[in-house]
Amino acid sequence: MERLYFFPVFFLLLQILNNQTFTQNLVYRIGSPDEAIQVNFLLTKDGRPNYLINSNGKIIIDTSFFSFEFKDNKPFGKNLEVVNSANSSFDETWETVWGEQRLIRNHYNELKIELQENGDLERKCFVVFRVFNDGVGFRFEFPDQKNLKDVIITDENTQFNFIGDHTCWWTPGDWDIYEHLYNTTRFTKIDALSKRDHPNLAQTYIPENAVNTPITMKTDNGIYISILEANLTNYSDMTLKIDKENLLFQSELVGNDSGIKVKTKTPFVTPWRLILIGDEAKDLVESRTILNLNEPNKLEDVSWIKPTKYVGIWWEMHLGKSSWDMESEKHGATTKNAKRYIDFVSKNEIKSLLVEGWNTGWERWIGFEDREGVFDFVTPYADYDLDEVVRYAKEKGVNIIMHHETSSAVRTYEKQMDTAFALCKSLGIHAIKTGYVGKIIPKGEYHHGQYMINHYRNVMEKAALYEIMVDVHEPIIPTGLRRTYPNLMSAEGLRGQEFNAWSTDGGNPPEHLTIVPFTRMLGGPIDYTPGIFDIKFDKYKDKNQVNTTLAHQLALYVVIYSPVQMAADLLENYEELPAFQFIRDVGVDWDTSIVINGEVGEYITIARKERDTNKWFLGSITDENKRTTDIKLDFFDEGKQYRATIYSDDENSHWDENPTSYKIENLTVDNTTSLTLQLAPGGGTAISFILISDEE
Ligand code: NOJ
Ligand code: CA
Repeated sequence: MERLYFFPVFFLLLQILNNQTFTQNLVYRIGSPDEAIQVNFLLTKDGRPNYLINSNGKIIIDTSFFSFEFKDNKPFGKNLEVVNSANSSFDETWETVWGEQRLIRNHYNELKIELQENGDLERKCFVVFRVFNDGVGFRFEFPDQKNLKDVIITDENTQFNFIGDHTCWWTPGDWDIYEHLYNTTRFTKIDALSKRDHPNLAQTYIPENAVNTPITMKTDNGIYISILEANLTNYSDMTLKIDKENLLFQSELVGNDSGIKVKTKTPFVTPWRLILIGDEAKDLVESRTILNLNEPNKLEDVSWIKPTKYVGIWWEMHLGKSSWDMESEKHGATTKNAKRYIDFVSKNEIKSLLVEGWNTGWERWIGFEDREGVFDFVTPYADYDLDEVVRYAKEKGVNIIMHHETSSAVRTYEKQMDTAFALCKSLGIHAIKTGYVGKIIPKGEYHHGQYMINHYRNVMEKAALYEIMVDVHEPIIPTGLRRTYPNLMSAEGLRGQEFNAWSTDGGNPPEHLTIVPFTRMLGGPIDYTPGIFDIKFDKYKDKNQVNTTLAHQLALYVVIYSPVQMAADLLENYEELPAFQFIRDVGVDWDTSIVINGEVGEYITIARKERDTNKWFLGSITDENKRTTDIKLDFFDEGKQYRATIYSDDENSHWDENPTSYKIENLTVDNTTSLTLQLAPGGGTAISFILISDEE
């Protein structure tokens, strides 16, 4: 770190670049370990703190201010001075319990600035920057202090100021749901308000022209930037408000109807605001910085935490083949049906079964204002013998995943949580899927506000006490907490496969999953529920379909990362189909992940080596355009030969005209082999690589 007072050339330059008239009078600098990224921390003459980020000499974030507004306390953000500063470095490699890779290096330089207000209140705040080779994290730490005790934040105004009208891949800043399609526009063309009133969302609230994080951008000179959050704890989610005139985002925290964004007390810290910077789009996907900005694992015994594939009594409800409730007389979760699924799981090495609609309450789960006390998390429907299903599953070596749809009646769930988790424990069930469809009860709270963030946290921590892994639907966006609580396995938090079954806007377009790895997936694992083989499902629906080829569905097991990965289709669509072998084989826990290539919204190819085996898997997908891509297998160890089984589109495949056509080829490959992948429109390729010496 250098401390520079009145460095005229630098300031002149700054002023020209910023076209701003204030004079900055203090600069602290910190660089990434490889020196490519530089953060400058500055104070204006009137004591307003701001920061600026360069990468390889180019401005990524121009002068950006921050300030806080409180209820019953003066705003904080001017008339400040630096009373102390400290810099330090950190370099450590840690081992994940599960994940995209086994070992992660956490390497950064840190600058910690202590700010204090001039004047009577003398309030204090630390600003901490951690600069990694692939990005910058910063957060605000408010220590215990006389004039800031109980705190109600009514606004955090943190700016991210750009110097160009970047291309953005964005979803609207919705306080209640992330299940929107991505939009690709220039920054100045972002129009979140046009995404209001989506017919297929049981809850949506987009108060202003803002976006949700992660938001990914590309500059005209080819730099990729993504803004996200790490370690969102006892705070509220940050949306980013668009200021078109000044080309900047300003944080807008999710609040509640009382105008409160965050209620806390000192000492407290904000989540990390994280800016990832990459020369190539794939650099963003390979970043593990979000995990490095979270605390180490707090769970001592992790022997019960196991990544898994699963099938579910699930897609049949989304297609309308069966239903969650019993009243309709086509109840899906019957003992008989569950046993049919269990037989399938045990025969096909899938390991787990999710059963939705097993408990009472589904007759009144959506479309009602009053949903309190409706769901019961311990009482099965009369035609579902829970004990017998669990007994049978155990006999067949199958794990049951318990389902808790709360219909967002959060208090009802909280009341029953202990009993419900104790039931799981008594049955030897170590996994639940939770869901939060509908508007939050209590009214006036939103899915992404502090009340719910604390609820999701409470569920995760309590589940850990009962040795339960969680997969959350309608969640808060993952921010890397899985490092601290490795029982937080996966989450939805995007437009998942279910939209293809019933949405009235044509489902997820072919490009959808070529955007997701560079945006939502930067937050963490995704329970997308891939693997639909009966792409058109004409037997159940005329208008809907999956908008990809079958080979694309296979590739998703590698491309879309999740430690719990569903084989989502109806069992009858898998039986006997050769392509299903890939789903049987594919791993769910990885030693190494390599993003081979990718452009946001166009294509992506990822290779992953399974943990504790010698197997590699590769997935490549494209948008609506067909594509030829050459892949070098130079990531294999020298001298090792693999049997590659390649599941790909054929000459006739097309996501709409011919989606189920595919071919399978076998090849012997090693680290000198190059493969040419031919992806059909909306298509993909999935490959398994088995070490030949392991076969003998
Ligand atoms: C929405 C979830 O995303 C879906 O997976 C689930 O089946 C339904 N809610 C019912 O809980
Ligand atoms: Ca959902």
